[in-house]
Amino acid sequence: MKQLIPAGVAGIGHWVPSQVITNQWFAKYLDTSDEWITKRTGIAERRWLTDDEVPTDMFKGASEMAIKDAGIDANDIDMIVVGSVSGDYTAPSAACILQDRLGITNDCGAFDVAAACSGFMYALAVGTQFVETGKYKNVLVVGGDAMSRMINKEDRSTAVLFGDASGAMVLQPHSVCKRGLIEDITIGAQGAGAKYIIRKRGGGADPISHEILDEKSHFIFMDGRPVYRFAATKMIWLLDWAMTGQDPAKLGWMIPHQMNRRILEQATAHLGIPPHKVLHNIAKYGNTSSASVPLLLSEGYHKGLFEKDKYLVLGAFGAGLTWSGARILW
Ligand SMILES: CC(C)(COP(=O)(O)OP(=O)(O)OC[C@H]1O[C@@H](n2cnc3c(N)ncnc32)[C@H](O)[C@@H]1OP(=O)(O)O)[C@@H](O)C(=O)NCCC(=O)NCCS
Repeated sequence: MKQLIPAGVAGIGHWVPSQVITNQWFAKYLDTSDEWITKRTGIAERRWLTDDEVPTDMFKGASEMAIKDAGIDANDIDMIVVGSVSGDYTAPSAACILQDRLGITNDCGAFDVAAACSGFMYALAVGTQFVETGKYKNVLVVGGDAMSRMINKEDRSTAVLFGDASGAMVLQPHSVCKRGLIEDITIGAQGAGAKYIIRKRGGGADPISHEILDEKSHFIFMDGRPVYRFAATKMIWLLDWAMTGQDPAKLGWMIPHQMNRRILEQATAHLGIPPHKVLHNIAKYGNTSSASVPLLLSEGYHKGLFEKDKYLVLGAFGAGLTWSGARILW
């Protein structure tokens, strides 16, 4: 059997829209308050695309930053995997639109994976395999969602939670980039939980119609309580999975999906992980779905927070229900 080639993180980038939406903005037209949102979620503001921006603007910005960080040319990319459920079009894929917008003309494979908030992590799992098997040398993995285009802005239970953003990573054989060794990745799903976060109508089963538009059932519906319980339980499981059998002193940073500050604090306290080992940015960006983990990772990396030979533990959960974790040795 062929020997696997360890994969590493060669470049990291992110992009967020410049438009800031504060909690006070919602309080002007919804029955909500800055106090409720801050206390229940930890979110103070989020970024939303302006009307003249499109999701691929975010994917492109994050990708260009990651490609530059990796020190390669866009046409060196051998494959593009985008984890997103909100590209510019329902079809074709966001990855194909992105390939063109990056000026990549080498005909590299480009495709999306749909795993909602776990999208980037699922894409990372796919991209890693192509490096490990020796098939490709430069794989671009992107996560991002335009949540502002999928929420019903009149529904206070979802509108306040989500923001728009993108994050990206270039993967290479670890022997080439010599950093960010991807030691292990896990992915999982429980389709029976699909009903808890869902765009109920307007898909293949029930194509878009005037009736659907009127009742707004093409927007995201979420049953918050069961999702909260799922995320809290899975977060504990994932952190445990990542560090079982590893030296706890080697834990550099936990980089968890930013869905609710309370869930994160409860889970890390349960496992005895000190708060200063956990990265957060939910206050600034809210839940940015598939962008959440790579955005947090990119901010931490570009601030110079990561220490050599320490672990980064990544974990995400989302609609599906889906989840994914990764352990990276920096
Ligand atoms: C959404 C969430 C913050 C709600 O917090 P909660 O403490 O569970 O609150 P509940 O859903 O029980 O709602 C409590 C009350 O607040 C109300 N409420 C919901 N959103 C509100 C808002 N933005 N402002 C004010 N009140 C709000 C509810 O209508 C409910 O009122 P009622 O008791 O009169 O019916 C929480 O359930 C959560 O974070 N769930 C996980 C969401 C998530 O992570 N989703 C993405 C997964 S990737």
